[in-house]
Amino acid sequence: MSDPGPPPLEQRVAWKTVRDEAERLREVHLRDLFVSDPLRAEEMTAEGGGLLLDYSKARVDGPTLDALFELADESEIWGRRDQMFAGDRINVSEDRSVLHVALRMPKERSLIVDGQDVVAEVHRVLDRMSAFSDRIRSGDWTGHTGKRIRNVVNIGIGGSDLGPVMAYEALRHYADPNLRFGFVSNIDGTDFAETTKGMDPEETLFIISSKTFTTLETMTNARTAREWSLRGLGGDEAAVAKHFVAVSTNAEGVAEFGIDTENMFGFWDWVGGRYSMDSAIGLSTMIAIGPRAFAEMLGGFHQMDEHFLSAPALENLPALHGLLAIWHSLLCRSQTVAVLPYDQYLHRFPAYLQQLTMESNGKHVRLDGSPVGVETGMIFWGEPGTNGQHSFYQLLHQGTQIVPCDFIGFTNSLNPLGEHHQILFANLLAQSAAMAFGRTTEEVRQAGSPEEQVPHRVMEGNRPSLTILADRLTPESLGSLIALYEHSVFCQGTVWGIDSFDQWGVELGKVMAVEISPLLAAEGDPGRDSSTNSLIARYRERNDA
Ligand code: F6P
Repeated sequence: MSDPGPPPLEQRVAWKTVRDEAERLREVHLRDLFVSDPLRAEEMTAEGGGLLLDYSKARVDGPTLDALFELADESEIWGRRDQMFAGDRINVSEDRSVLHVALRMPKERSLIVDGQDVVAEVHRVLDRMSAFSDRIRSGDWTGHTGKRIRNVVNIGIGGSDLGPVMAYEALRHYADPNLRFGFVSNIDGTDFAETTKGMDPEETLFIISSKTFTTLETMTNARTAREWSLRGLGGDEAAVAKHFVAVSTNAEGVAEFGIDTENMFGFWDWVGGRYSMDSAIGLSTMIAIGPRAFAEMLGGFHQMDEHFLSAPALENLPALHGLLAIWHSLLCRSQTVAVLPYDQYLHRFPAYLQQLTMESNGKHVRLDGSPVGVETGMIFWGEPGTNGQHSFYQLLHQGTQIVPCDFIGFTNSLNPLGEHHQILFANLLAQSAAMAFGRTTEEVRQAGSPEEQVPHRVMEGNRPSLTILADRLTPESLGSLIALYEHSVFCQGTVWGIDSFDQWGVELGKVMAVEISPLLAAEGDPGRDSSTNSLIARYRERNDA
């Protein structure tokens, strides 16, 4: 762990300026910021990678932006970005490169890391994935009994599930309607049972997706899938070769499980799980939408990568997005960010972002292991609009905590039905405007509200949001959107001086579950803490199995 990173945030000169800016702006209302600068929306809109970012409803002005970009400079965001793209080992606690950006570099590029051209390796795997996907989609690849594959089930968890399921849902407009897709992640047997209900083993392909090929949930579900498959196929072990493929970095583990490594699609330890949906982990996505559309998705990722690399600071979407997330958490003392996609296809996007953001930046120490000393890692959550409006938006508008929001929308619908899209888009605009400008006491009175209701109807406004727009939800715009968040997370982590690419915090719980599992089936004193002991006793007493 050689790289200590920049000095602690509290010692950086620009952080002091940013904090002073927060004091200055805390009582300034967005209403006044808009009145004092009629060109605000124009000035505070940036475009890149096919996306538009309107940050005029962020609670910033020129001096604040200057301070935030001084902080970016002092935090070495740009230099560390270049280190990431060059393959330097910026994941210091695991001593690894962080090269998800290589997953979407065009074939003609080359990037030599540790003597290997990683771009050439990426495209070797992409070519194999394409050939395999084409065979499944055309019906050329058949199951053990000669039947065509109709069901594709991805078994994985975390980054080996959330990306694939989010991308399938987001892009199902483009998916082959003759194929049914299922995603099994939870160790809860219900997930496997319900996903495979009604599927014919003769027509079902399982993709076992696991970077490590050791994850308890995935290996347990994979074994269950093998039993389910063999049971339905007359028990012939040879059937595994036609119904199971693997996506992993662990060829040995794959072979040990009984999957021919010919049927394995590899990736590398420089791809973090939560940054892997555009690697071979995206095999189910590629089978669903086809290799060409998958390549378009990679193109979208790459456009945003190039934008992040080359756009000037004040037009750089990932930098703006990341710095404004930190800014709002400081200014509004916010612990959460709501992600509100106004597109039903993106209904799993907030769940996907939860791993990307929170597994990356929920860290308590800096790169050198010293306490981080500031709040890190906001909680990301959300639901598609307009559904959320009829649920939690009340708190967003009038609650006592301020929740900065990301509104995500598209100017065109993939399912243009009457006025639906116009109304949907109008709601997106209405919500962000209502949050920003609210409704004053005078306005409420003028609208004729009974006096006793006036305080209940007042909306203080000044609730910040960002609006991200694309013309249409396509594989390309989805790729760009994901890359925007990936790099925003990177910028946030760099300012905090933490390692956004490890995840040691998930380990202890895993180890303890392995210790506790046999205790549930045993007798006598479990020897744990008194709470766990008494809950074990309850389980032993009441479990019927
Ligand atoms: O438990 C966390 C985690 O390690 C994630 O980082 C990862 O995406 C997930 O588990 C699954 O890991 P694997 O792909 O190795 O099965």
